[in-house]
Amino acid sequence: MKITIGSDHGAVELKEEVKMVLKEFADIEVKDVGTFGTDSVDYPDIAEKVCADVTSGKADRGIVLCGTGIGISIAANKIHGIRCALCSDVYSARMSREHNDANVLAMGGRVTGFGPAGEIVRVWIKTEHVGGRHARRVAKIMALEK
Ligand code: RB5
Repeated sequence: MKITIGSDHGAVELKEEVKMVLKEFADIEVKDVGTFGTDSVDYPDIAEKVCADVTSGKADRGIVLCGTGIGISIAANKIHGIRCALCSDVYSARMSREHNDANVLAMGGRVTGFGPAGEIVRVWIKTEHVGGRHARRVAKIMALEK
């Protein structure tokens, strides 16, 4: 599975932690689009870079991080084809895959600690969409883009 990850300056440390967790998965290839320092950057630019890889098929899924996860998830969800789930607990992370087929995960570096974030990522990576009635609802979400 190919994953593109990005954060603004509010979650650079969490990005490094998430990349460490992703190394636990032998079949995951990670591309980091930045940012790489503490200089202030604009989270919509990072969302755009990550989501471009997802919508083009260069990545299977994306992970976007900012201070709260709110701004970058709002930006990601403006991009056609993206279903971005802002998660701060493991149950929501699982449901975002099973029910919503989220193709982008968002978290907040100033909100979610490294331990919970690691568990959220592990569950989000491993969980598959269940289809059925949930596939119908996801199709209706995507139809809202038209
Ligand atoms: C940047 O200071 C901060 O606004 C950003 O990381 C994020 O929390 C926005 O939603």
